[in-house]
Amino acid sequence: MDKKRNSFSGSIGFVLAAAGSAVGLGNIWRFPYLAAKGGGGLFLVIYLVLALTFGYTLLTTEISIGRKIKKGPLSAYGELNKKSYWIGIFACLIPIMIMPYYCAIGGWVIKYFVGFLTGDGLNMAQDGYFTGFITSTGEPIIYTVIFLLICTFIILRGVNNGIEAMSRIMMPILLLLVIIIAFFSLTISYTDAEGVTRTGMEGLKIFIVPDFTGMTVQKFFSVLMDAMGQLFYSLSVAMGIMVAYGSYVRDEDNLGKSINQIEIFDTGIAVLAGIMIIPAVFAFQGREGMSASGPGLMFVSLPKVFAEMGAIGRFVGILFFAMVLFAAFTSAVSIMEAIVTSFMDQFHIKRATATITELGIALVVGVIVCLGYNKLYFELPLPNGSVAQVLDVLDYVSNNCLMPIVAISTCILIGWILKPQTIIDEVEKNGETMGRKKLYCVMIKFIAPILLLILLLKALGIVTFI
Ligand code: PFF
Repeated sequence: MDKKRNSFSGSIGFVLAAAGSAVGLGNIWRFPYLAAKGGGGLFLVIYLVLALTFGYTLLTTEISIGRKIKKGPLSAYGELNKKSYWIGIFACLIPIMIMPYYCAIGGWVIKYFVGFLTGDGLNMAQDGYFTGFITSTGEPIIYTVIFLLICTFIILRGVNNGIEAMSRIMMPILLLLVIIIAFFSLTISYTDAEGVTRTGMEGLKIFIVPDFTGMTVQKFFSVLMDAMGQLFYSLSVAMGIMVAYGSYVRDEDNLGKSINQIEIFDTGIAVLAGIMIIPAVFAFQGREGMSASGPGLMFVSLPKVFAEMGAIGRFVGILFFAMVLFAAFTSAVSIMEAIVTSFMDQFHIKRATATITELGIALVVGVIVCLGYNKLYFELPLPNGSVAQVLDVLDYVSNNCLMPIVAISTCILIGWILKPQTIIDEVEKNGETMGRKKLYCVMIKFIAPILLLILLLKALGIVTFI
């Protein structure tokens, strides 16, 4: 019973959906911070070079595997090469681990969006508000479930009416919101209690102008690894998603062009997020404010920045959290789709059955993630030096251990076992020429696996000098 597989209605639908997956929380809460920490312009240049080489290679590989085999990640790797079926299992396990905690964070975003909408923003800027919220037992679970149910609804509607339709609406609005907030951020001028005036434009300089002070070879490598790690997570590779989305790309679509557009979208939004966040945080909190990233930046520092803005702060907060919500939804839906399409292909079940199964898994684990901050609280030291709760453990194992393993194995499979020509043939299937062909071969065989191995060893705490 080989039913005709769904496909995106055209390359714009595909590009928006894939960009929607790539543009997520990582672009907003980690990229600007890493850029400010890594010497501004220096980080940006390294990131762009890596995006055009390393990122391009991984993205092209996964999307091409998906389009060639036309199956979700769980089955696709085994069909490419029988002995590689285990990569598919890992590539399906990773989104299963990520989905519950991405929903928990998505739930926090809903809470803050609703809070700013209903005029509770000033309250949310108080010290201890965020900790109080996530350590409470009821509310975080309710918001997690709401976020998860909205994702489930979109996935149940299918590829065209669900994922593609959502991306076509949310992605242009997201882009517009980021541009509006970024412009606003650049116009800020703030005088603090000590009478020091700082402007958004000065903050922009920290982000854009390369800063080589104290630069050593070791520091350079550490910026390189930060940029590579960020790019790797940002493009949504090594987690089955791009194989899943690639499997919905029509054979007649131009893959090379779409891949370039996805990269431009993802990197563009990351840079705009930097222009949006760094000037505002710098103006209101100075350089010290820029040491926060992740939830600390989004749910603690930024609400304080919005509170400092006065009356307009509430409005900016609403726009900001709406934008983050769109970024989170389009990413979470892609994570869920990677799982659902895998279940459908592997077990020959209907979309509804696969979706409800994943809903059940995400619900149970999602509740455990929420309880990880109260009833199930523990402090687990990780090899990378941080102290983890349930959410961080899932994040660490999936992002830092399993994803590099999947990516390295994929490079070995394509570079050495099946040979790069397999991917080149897929890209060139309908007469287009693949642009960076030689580069692709060198990257997939040598450079990408080596860089990824260093990333893995660093995450495992084995390599400590960078
Ligand atoms: N690429 C998205 C982001 O940057 O947020 C989606 C994503 C990446 C989700 C990595 C989860 C993850 F672990």
